[in-house]
Amino acid sequence: MPYTIAVIGTGYVGLVTGTCFAESGCQVNCVDIDHKKIDMLERGEIPIYEPGLDILLARNIRERRIKFTLDLERSVLASDVIFLCLPTPPGEDGSADLKYILGVAEQIGTILHNNPSAGYKAVVDKSTVPVGTSELVRDTIRRNAPGADFDVVSNPEFLREGYAVEDFMRPERVVIGTQSKRAEEIMRELYEPYVRSGNPIFVISERSAEIAKYAANSFVAMRISFINEMANFCEQVGANIDDVRAAIGSDSRIGKKYLYPSVGYGGSCFPKDVRAILKSAADNSTTLQVIESVERVNKEQPVRFFEKIRAHFGDLTGLRFAVWGLAYKANTDDVRESPAFVIIDQLLAAGAEVIAYDPEAMEGARKKYGRTVTYGAGMYETVRNADALVILTEWNEFRNPDFERLRECLNNHVIFDGRNLFNTAEVAAKHFTYYSVGRATTSADKVVE
Ligand SMILES: NC(=O)c1ccc[n+]([C@@H]2O[C@H](COP(=O)([O-])OP(=O)(O)OC[C@H]3O[C@@H](n4cnc5c(N)ncnc54)[C@H](O)[C@@H]3O)[C@@H](O)[C@H]2O)c1
Repeated sequence: MPYTIAVIGTGYVGLVTGTCFAESGCQVNCVDIDHKKIDMLERGEIPIYEPGLDILLARNIRERRIKFTLDLERSVLASDVIFLCLPTPPGEDGSADLKYILGVAEQIGTILHNNPSAGYKAVVDKSTVPVGTSELVRDTIRRNAPGADFDVVSNPEFLREGYAVEDFMRPERVVIGTQSKRAEEIMRELYEPYVRSGNPIFVISERSAEIAKYAANSFVAMRISFINEMANFCEQVGANIDDVRAAIGSDSRIGKKYLYPSVGYGGSCFPKDVRAILKSAADNSTTLQVIESVERVNKEQPVRFFEKIRAHFGDLTGLRFAVWGLAYKANTDDVRESPAFVIIDQLLAAGAEVIAYDPEAMEGARKKYGRTVTYGAGMYETVRNADALVILTEWNEFRNPDFERLRECLNNHVIFDGRNLFNTAEVAAKHFTYYSVGRATTSADKVVE
């Protein structure tokens, strides 16, 4: 029999989780405290940009398999499984702030206490949380509802924004942290439709599951910082990071993924998760030296890129920069900890003017910058009368621009590309001075050192 599920927190993870479980036949109640979000979702509007989610959500709303509500109590009581998809933002000291998770755990405890016949509940933590959080959630619920029948499960989510539906529907693996056979059985049943092609479900301890998520994110972040450090070295010694990347990426021990030089990683996960595992390790008397360096390199990367702009122009006061790309990566509207913002901050602080364009993320930037930054209606409108073009997100639509049109629009024929979207020789042939990451800077007729 299909399960009834409550998804608490209807953001990137919660909305995708709820929609995808509804698609496999579960009855899903998505709960949030954000009235506006719930109103939008009830009207069938999606508050985030996530490819493919709209069609899936519309179908499941139509089939009445998914509902949106502010009512936590009714949703908890109606459900067999309660997924916590709540924020775990960084606290002042870098640790994951557990106030949302433990606050909801407290509420669930009270609800179960006030409703002694509520029956068994599996409370599943999908948020990214430090090792030991499952115990904290269990203790919190137990303290409020000593007689309640429940298990707490750690089920970290590995989806990538921009590919979230695909990742959820066809996960490379599912990790379930539990010692409870009852909870394990429910979780296996829930995920069975998504692993039919044979991808594994790992049932491990809660603590191992919690660390697995941080280890995965830190490892990918490490690859990004590694290639960025190599790119910086290539710049210093006149080598080409594209060639180096191709040479090492073909080695099956290394592989090609997440080896793209850039202005650094950002988003709602890598930066905060790297900091959180460092803090969690420190709290447990451990130093994670590799991960410390990963963070240090990433912090410096956008600043290094900005320095190229400054070195080219000298004084930036009054200059106008057209920025293509605000999201921390392509295919998302997410601007949390976007490296683009680090660079824009520096441009503004240096007295420059910024006009920006992003296919999906301008709303997020408006929230941060208000009128300090202006926004273009499209790629070419943005570059008109700008002193240089600065590319900060690897959207596909930026990959093959009309260089002739760019030349007509820009005051100076200079491109700073923080995503290495173009071939250096081709851009030089179009009569641009072209700065990128880990490759020689080229101009129409000479290589600029
Ligand atoms: N975004 C990702 O790509 C991703 C991937 C894997 C894991 N994660 C992790 O999943 C968790 C959630 O991330 P997200 O990106 O979905 O966050 P989000 O900020 O997009 O969504 C969180 C939602 O929770 C709601 N909320 C806050 N307090 C609430 C409460 N008391 N009751 C009900 N709803 C409440 C917020 O209003 C918001 O809608 C985080 O721990 C994150 O690290 C995120």
